[in-house]
Amino acid sequence: MTVHKHKKDLEKTVLELKSKNISIGLVPTMGALHLGHISLVRQALDKNDVVIVSIFVNPTQFDNKKDLENYPRTLNQDIELLKTASKEKIIVFAPTAKDIYNSNIQATDFSFDGLEYEMEGKFRDGHFDGVGTIVKRLLEIARPDNAYFGKKDFQQLQIIKKLVEKHKIPVNIIGCEIERDADGLAKSSRNMRLKPEYREAAPFIYKTLKSAKVKFGTKSANEVVKWVTKQFAKHPILKLEYFIIANAQNLKPVKRKSNNKSYRAFIAVYADDIRLIDNIALN
Ligand code: PAJ
Repeated sequence: MTVHKHKKDLEKTVLELKSKNISIGLVPTMGALHLGHISLVRQALDKNDVVIVSIFVNPTQFDNKKDLENYPRTLNQDIELLKTASKEKIIVFAPTAKDIYNSNIQATDFSFDGLEYEMEGKFRDGHFDGVGTIVKRLLEIARPDNAYFGKKDFQQLQIIKKLVEKHKIPVNIIGCEIERDADGLAKSSRNMRLKPEYREAAPFIYKTLKSAKVKFGTKSANEVVKWVTKQFAKHPILKLEYFIIANAQNLKPVKRKSNNKSYRAFIAVYADDIRLIDNIALN
C-alpha cells in the first residue's frame, strides 16, 4: 500500500492518475480508524479506480486543546485495517501539520449560510471553519471525482456540500449511512476511551433516538424534545447536551411539521468527559 507523507508526493501521483483518466475517490479522516471509516472506504472502492484515504488530526478544528492532544494517533494500526479493504487500490495520505499549513496553523473564515451556527456550531467555537479549511485543501490536493463523508456527522456533511457549491469545486459529495455496533452505539474513535460503565450505558442514546422517531409520527417536535429531555434527566450517568429536531436541509429547529419536508433528530451527550453525537432520519 502506498503511503504519502508529503503533499508534493501526492500531487505528483494525482497528476499521473489524472493523465491516465483513472477515477479518484477521497475519504478524509483523522485516523484511529474503525469500521465506520472502513464502510466509507468500501463505498469509495466500489465506485472509483483508486481511493485516497487521508489521515490527519486537523488542529484548526479543535476548540479544546486537551481534546486535540488526547486524540488517538494510530497510523500503523490504521494502515493494517485499510489493507483489509484493499492493498492495491488505496493510497494513504498522512501529512504533517507543517505540510498542510506551513507555519500558519489557522482556519479560514467561511460562511456556510447559517448552517455553521446550528447545533455543533453553538458548542464548538470555530470548529466548522477548521473543517472547511482542511477539507477544501484536501479536495484541492487530491482532486477526487467523488468524496465520501458519514451521516454520523450530518451537519459536517451539509456544510461540506455547501462549501463545494459555494467554491464551485468539481467533486461529488457522497453521504454514507451511520455504522453502529450491534447494540446500536454509533461507531466513533471516541468510544474506545469510554470507561466500561459508560460504554454499557451509551446505547441508550440510539435507543432514545429510535423512540423519538416513533413519537414524532404522532406528536409535535416540542413534545418529543420534552420527552427526550426527561429521559436523560432521569438517567443516572449520561448527561444530555442538546436534543434538536431540525429540517434536514437547513438544520433549523422545526417548530411546526410540514408534510413535504424531511426532518432529523440530533443529539449530543456527555458520557463522563467524552462527548458523543448521533442523529436519525425522522421521515
Ligand atoms: P473523522 O471523525 O475521522 O471521520 C471521518 C469520516 O468518517 C467522517 O466523514 C465521519 O462522518 C465518518 N464516520 C465516522 N464515524 C462513522 C460511523 N459510525 N458511520 C459512518 N461514518 C462515520 O470527520 C472528520 O474525521 C473530520 O472532521 C474530517 C472530515 C476528516 C476533517 O478533518
